[in-house]
Amino acid sequence: MTSAASGLVVALDGPGSSGKSSVGAAAALRLGYRFCDTGLLYRAVTWLALGRGIRLDGHEGAGPDPARLVALVAEIELVPDSDGRLAHVSVDGVDVTDAVHGPAVDEAVSAVSRVPELRTALLERQRAIAAEPGGIVMAGRDIGTVVLPDADLKIFLDASVEERARRRAEERAVDPDSQEGRYILAQLRRRDDLDSNRAVAPLRPAADAVHVVTDGNTFDQTVDAVVGAIRHAEAGVAASGGAG
Ligand code: C5P
Repeated sequence: MTSAASGLVVALDGPGSSGKSSVGAAAALRLGYRFCDTGLLYRAVTWLALGRGIRLDGHEGAGPDPARLVALVAEIELVPDSDGRLAHVSVDGVDVTDAVHGPAVDEAVSAVSRVPELRTALLERQRAIAAEPGGIVMAGRDIGTVVLPDADLKIFLDASVEERARRRAEERAVDPDSQEGRYILAQLRRRDDLDSNRAVAPLRPAADAVHVVTDGNTFDQTVDAVVGAIRHAEAGVAASGGAG
């Protein structure tokens, strides 16, 4: 897809709280790659839908009205940080990155992201970002399977749901054994289940993905593993004379 000299296109998929966003952003910085957290797009649509009172369970469980969700996409913009990484999201010019990581969005986002029309509306945007010059690490659920099936490297970042829930609880300064900690675990299990079993673009490793399991790793160890996998792939592309 790319020549190693200009950087590779890397798909980084995995379940919630597997570290895709933070690890991917740190790895991209070390490699001089661009970065994009696609979960922000689904989160921002969900946040807007909740704020606008759009029913997400739909009529008699039919799901949200696709046209109303698709109409929200135009209001959302991914915003680069000082290193050019697309790790923030704004709605009508206001940065809502913190707001879209709240529990209400965590709970509702899977009902929104399973809507095929919305996924189609976001697909071209993600592909256009990947097609800009320079290597990129793009984090999500379906990057290696649907968004960028020709990525130079596909990484599936995983950890047990207990470990992921513990990390999420720590991020929020919550005791993992408290009632709130147990709620975080239950919510992650539910989101894993919904994201993995939806009809369109379910969360699943691409057949050719490199698996990186992070249980017991420090953050830096996981970044090292991801950077190592990308350098290894760069060397392979360089040795084969570049793919394009
Ligand atoms: O990665 P993050 O946990 O922020 O993603 C939030 C939600 O957005 C996921 O639970 C999933 O439902 C949806 N998502 C998706 N496809 C992506 C990225 C995120 O369906 N590429």
